[in-house]
Amino acid sequence: MRTPLMAGNWKMNKTVGEAVAALKALKPLVADVKDVEVLICPVFTSLYAVSREIENSEIKLGAQNLFWEAKGAFTGEVSPSMVKDAGCSYVIIGHSERRQYFGETDETVNKKTKAAFGAGLIPIVCVGETLKEREENITFKVIEKQIRDGLSGLSGEQASSLVIAYEPVWAIGTGKTATPDQAQEVHAFIRKLYAEIYKEAAESVRILYGGSVNPKNVSDLMKQPDIDGGLVGGASLEADSFSQLVKYLK
Ligand code: 13P
Repeated sequence: MRTPLMAGNWKMNKTVGEAVAALKALKPLVADVKDVEVLICPVFTSLYAVSREIENSEIKLGAQNLFWEAKGAFTGEVSPSMVKDAGCSYVIIGHSERRQYFGETDETVNKKTKAAFGAGLIPIVCVGETLKEREENITFKVIEKQIRDGLSGLSGEQASSLVIAYEPVWAIGTGKTATPDQAQEVHAFIRKLYAEIYKEAAESVRILYGGSVNPKNVSDLMKQPDIDGGLVGGASLEADSFSQLVKYLK
């Protein structure tokens, strides 16, 4: 059984004070949730303060990026063990915004994924096609390359605990969600491909959907057999709407 994971990617939003206040508001709203894992991914500067705020709650903390080296002369970067030390258990890797604006490739995704595991973090590795790629009918080809290259060389245990997020680039921040059928089609493709590479780990790997998830569309998406949760931007910024996503079953 895969435990559903609802993850908020706050992107470059919220000061330390705003982040802590949002968690103060969220905690009581999700305190009774037992069947869904709840994860918040704020900016680096808020991680430690948020980790203090969520002590004694079930809410987990993740970073939005890391660098693969352990320490040294890499101005502006943050290492996997530093992310862990700040209180994180997860880290988002290879988000399409990082691929698009910061030159991340499947090769850097692979290095970061292995480094995250090395520090005891669970990576959430993002894949997804652009609108142009979907229109050219090469969605599966694009995703296959991202998975084969970005996730090569993992151990069986790493492959099972990994989280994949399918985020079609055309659905991010656009209000244009993939239909549940469109998302399920790609999720099933990812799981089948994963089974070819990592055998039984395909049954335990969680595959999240991301791209304009909101309280109205979440339950139809979560009904799909291969959708194990959401990676949510806009609708995770307010405690009220994010708690509705976490409670999609109610
Ligand atoms: P939106 O939910 O704002 O479309 O963002 C999705 C996303 O990129 C999450 O990582």
